[in-house]
Amino acid sequence: MKNTFAEKAHGRVNLIGEHTDYNGGWVLPTSIPQFTHVTITPRADKTVKISSSADPKKGDRREFSYQLGAEKHTDTWVDYVQGATKLLSEFSTARGESLQGFDAHIESNIPEGSGLSSSAALEISLLKALRSAFKLSINDVEIARLGQRIENEFVGARVGIMDQMACSLATAGEAIFLDTKALTFERIALDLEEMDMIVINSGISHRLSAGGGYNQRRAECEEACKMLGIKELRDINPVELKHKDLPQILMKRARHVVTENARVFDAVAAIRSGDLKRLGKLFVESHVSMRDDYEVSIPEIDTLVDLCIKDPQVYGARLTGGGFGGSIVAITKKGEGQRVAKAVIAEYNKKTGSTATLLA
Ligand code: GLA
Repeated sequence: MKNTFAEKAHGRVNLIGEHTDYNGGWVLPTSIPQFTHVTITPRADKTVKISSSADPKKGDRREFSYQLGAEKHTDTWVDYVQGATKLLSEFSTARGESLQGFDAHIESNIPEGSGLSSSAALEISLLKALRSAFKLSINDVEIARLGQRIENEFVGARVGIMDQMACSLATAGEAIFLDTKALTFERIALDLEEMDMIVINSGISHRLSAGGGYNQRRAECEEACKMLGIKELRDINPVELKHKDLPQILMKRARHVVTENARVFDAVAAIRSGDLKRLGKLFVESHVSMRDDYEVSIPEIDTLVDLCIKDPQVYGARLTGGGFGGSIVAITKKGEGQRVAKAVIAEYNKKTGSTATLLA
């Protein structure tokens, strides 16, 4: 029997703290039941052969092979794998460790482009499987940082660290209250005896590719910092920002980030004290801020959120993840989640002609 090594990483849903991670801010993700699973069989040569059970997108392939050290950008899903072997080889060589070729098979039930970190789950499960297969000493936080570098340096998406930290470290039933600058975190227990959490995919997928709206938002935040004379938006609070002078668009972007940081702290306090009404209100405020100030929502997502919060058994709902499509997260009274989700999805499908699905 061949030696095989398997690892999995769950997708994540961010409860609150959106577009704060590349501004040195705070986030509060938790894991979802869906996950990516990678199996690795080491080879004696330098060949990497990968296969995926996912339906390939137009122009993509289900199988791909290349030589370690000859990774080249392809603008398809295999870049996550190529970026992983390139950066992990460099990282490990510096520690006197090394990779060999391997056969890898990937399976996932996290819908792509749903804002639930399908790409981070692929990076993290693959890096962890490579760690096991080649007895590497890299730890879980270093794996998360490497996952982010795959996106930034190989794929060309200037994402923050939230998704990779969540996919590497989060477990069900608790949220990770992460300081994305210090990379320190606390595990916050979610009282699932008192509430239901639902995640609905709008069926409109996004792609955080180079040059997209995501990178543009990031550039706007950097521009705002320059004009404010600060290093990161983490360094200013909502009251201080109010008294500053910025062009209107940059003021809106900065206002979202600084108020969202404050909402993360309030949300943690609300969870700790069991104040679900307050938590729900913060969800809605966060959504409005993403919709109006950060402008990363789309009409279909707004429809899902509006349908949810119309229901008296719902505490709150909001767009989760990077936006421009993707999913929403909502919290409801205990025992009401399934009913709410079913009703909201039926109404949404009828209204928009899209197909939403319940994921958690
Ligand atoms: C994407 C990115 C994260 C984060 C969110 C928005 O998921 O990968 O780093 O910026 O968008 O909060």
